[in-house]
Amino acid sequence: MAKTLVLYYSATGTTQGIAQQIADKLNADIAAIHPVQPYTSTDLNWHDSSTRATVEQKQQHDGRVPVKDDLPDPANYDNIVIGHPIWWGIPPRLIAATIDQLDLNGKVLATFATSGGSSYDRSQSNIARTVKENNYQLDLQKGAVLNSSAAIDRWLASLQLK
Ligand SMILES: Cc1cc2nc3c(=O)[nH]c(=O)nc-3n(C[C@H](O)[C@H](O)[C@H](O)COP(=O)(O)O)c2cc1C
Repeated sequence: MAKTLVLYYSATGTTQGIAQQIADKLNADIAAIHPVQPYTSTDLNWHDSSTRATVEQKQQHDGRVPVKDDLPDPANYDNIVIGHPIWWGIPPRLIAATIDQLDLNGKVLATFATSGGSSYDRSQSNIARTVKENNYQLDLQKGAVLNSSAAIDRWLASLQLK
C-alpha cells in the first residue's frame, strides 16, 4: 500500500491542526519541520519591517532558513504532503530549505497552507520554483489554503496520490 508522509511547519499551531487532520484522514505518518533557530514572537511581528520573518520573506528572495536535521527519510514514502503558514504571500523560507534537503525524485508532492486570507497562488509558484531549482522529477499537485474539515476533504479528493 502506498505510504504518505505529512510534514508541516507551524509557528502558532493553526497549520499543525490542519496537518493532523490530513494525517488522520489519510492514515499517514506526520512530522513537524523545525528551524535550527526557532522563531520568537518578536521574530514573527509583521507590523515591524525589521523583524526576522519580515526580512527573510521580503528581502531574501532566494533565501533559505536552515532546517533541523530530524526529518523522516522520504525514501520510505510515495506521497509527501507539506503544510505551512503563508508569510508575506509565500511559504516561510524554511520550506524551500526542506525541499532542498529531502530527495523528492519520483514522489507525489502536495502542499497546503493556512493563512489570514491569502490564496495559494503565489505559494504554488514559489514551491514550483524550488522544485525546479532542485531538478526534481516529481508530480507536483495543486496546493490549497485549508481552513476546515470540509475544505480538507475537497482538497484531498482533488489530489492524485499514489
Ligand atoms: C510573519 C507573518 C506574515 C504573515 N503574512 C501573511 C500573508 O501575507 N497573508 C495572510 O493571509 N496571512 C499572513 N500571515 C498569517 C498566517 O498565515 C496565519 O495566521 C497562519 O494560519 C498561521 O499558521 P501557524 O499558526 O501554523 O503558524 C502572516 C503571519 C506571520 C507571522
